[in-house]
Amino acid sequence: MLIVYFSSATENTHRFVHKLGFPSARIPLRRTEEPLRVNEPYVLVCPTYGGGASISHQNSRPVPTQVIRFLNDERNRSFIRAVVSSGNTNFGTDYGKAGDVIAAKCHVPYVYRFELLGTPEDVETLREGLLSNAEALGLQAPLTAA
Ligand SMILES: Cc1cc2nc3c(=O)[nH]c(=O)nc-3n(C[C@H](O)[C@H](O)[C@H](O)COP(=O)(O)O)c2cc1C
Repeated sequence: MLIVYFSSATENTHRFVHKLGFPSARIPLRRTEEPLRVNEPYVLVCPTYGGGASISHQNSRPVPTQVIRFLNDERNRSFIRAVVSSGNTNFGTDYGKAGDVIAAKCHVPYVYRFELLGTPEDVETLREGLLSNAEALGLQAPLTAA
């Protein structure tokens, strides 16, 4: 079960993904870094950075450019199986909107949404949900001890 994620310098998403405890790969923050390329099915965890587009009408791009660049790679895109998004409920109807955009563009289910760095309940719910639905989502289930 691979988690691919993006997280800015505030690292809320990084901390959440770390708590999930699955193998993970981080989409680089800077263009100068080596781009991430994946070769196996993954769940994408992506924070929303639209700045409340529906309210302000200023920025209609809730998906971070680094994530768009990663998904523009056809091979990377071919392995996405589900999306999880995060945000801040202060953004109202734009809360977690990156997940809606990615789900629609990549034709994958938007399976979970959490606020900021998530609660212990968020971590547990998503962890259990991914493990129990790994096969249905087309993700490789982790090996369990006999
Ligand atoms: C400039 C900016 C714009 C944001 N826009 C949205 C938004 O439109 N919707 C939302 O739900 N959260 C929005 N957020 C909140 C972030 O998604 C949230 O803080 C997230 O936890 C950041 O994750 P990171 O620290 O891993 O980068 C915004 C945050 C910033 C700084």
